[in-house]
Amino acid sequence: MDSYAATVARMPALRGAVAAAPHEHRVLTGERPTGPLHLGHLLGTIVERVRLQRSGVETFVILADYQVITDRETAEHVGEHVRGAVLDQLAAGLDPQATTFFVHSAVPALNQLMLPFLSLVSEAELHRNPTVRAEHELSGRALSGLMLTYPVHQAADILFCKADLVPVGKDQLPHVELTRVIARRFAERYAPVFRAPEPMLTDAPDIPGLDGRKMSKSRGNAIVLGMSPDETAAMIRKARTDTDRRITFDPDDRPEVSGLLSTAALCTGRAPAEVADEIGDGGAGLLKKVTTEAVNTFLAPHRARRAELAADPGLVDDVLRRGNARAVRIAEATLDEVRGAMGMRY
Ligand code: TRP
Repeated sequence: MDSYAATVARMPALRGAVAAAPHEHRVLTGERPTGPLHLGHLLGTIVERVRLQRSGVETFVILADYQVITDRETAEHVGEHVRGAVLDQLAAGLDPQATTFFVHSAVPALNQLMLPFLSLVSEAELHRNPTVRAEHELSGRALSGLMLTYPVHQAADILFCKADLVPVGKDQLPHVELTRVIARRFAERYAPVFRAPEPMLTDAPDIPGLDGRKMSKSRGNAIVLGMSPDETAAMIRKARTDTDRRITFDPDDRPEVSGLLSTAALCTGRAPAEVADEIGDGGAGLLKKVTTEAVNTFLAPHRARRAELAADPGLVDDVLRRGNARAVRIAEATLDEVRGAMGMRY
């Protein structure tokens, strides 16, 4: 069984364990603040975070700002994307009393953990990481030292707060596996300071973008949560379709039409084929109208809440300041244990 299948198989037991004793678990998850959050993030991951938080599990969300510069040469807009991501997650129902939002760059002790962790992995292991290889290829740039080693940094994201649950997408499984290896090797070499975390895969289906490919800001096919209804309508109007007036759900042969149908279906809780039947011979025009209405209706409460929160100018910075301060306290305590385990307390 490969690690994906093993993780899927483990999910019911893991969910059961969390439900039985939420206070014994700690969740750490997060994202790279490379762009605004979109519908795929909301349905794929944020809804799950809210569910976990509401079940009583303490949750940490990292806006991984140093990970932004793994595959690009600029940190432009990173602050804007960090703040936007916090705003969207508050609007979606994450409560800053129960969830700690923080960034790499504000937590020096977390970053310092990377040094002993780097000593526990070989260069060959780093080069084998399939996600790093794929991201490097996609970047079209030379492999930077940070790109090669960021999974070790990500292990520090997870281990600094001793999280045992890491909700992630499939592409992140190699990083969680490496984190487990690092936790184990640290125990073998020094002392059992860390517990080995487990990945949690969300049930949500892959969210297609407006062109039928995976929703992603860089592909220009994403419905951004913070867009206005008019911007949403304009974006959907521009989406490519085909000339067949009969609307059918056929992801292989009609990816663009099917992407729109999937979006409308996800936002209305129906099956894509059902939406297609309803549109019938209405053509791309009606398909786009139906999709726009579905998206704007579905996102209206989120957007209203987002606007309400955004009207409080100090709110997001305050949430980050408090989250960063809490992460700093926890990271310093962990680093102190690491110093002790390594005989480096002076
Ligand atoms: N690499 C993750 C992504 O691209 C983001 C991330 C950074 C993360 N640190 C993390 C996810 C720690 C889970 C745990 O989406």
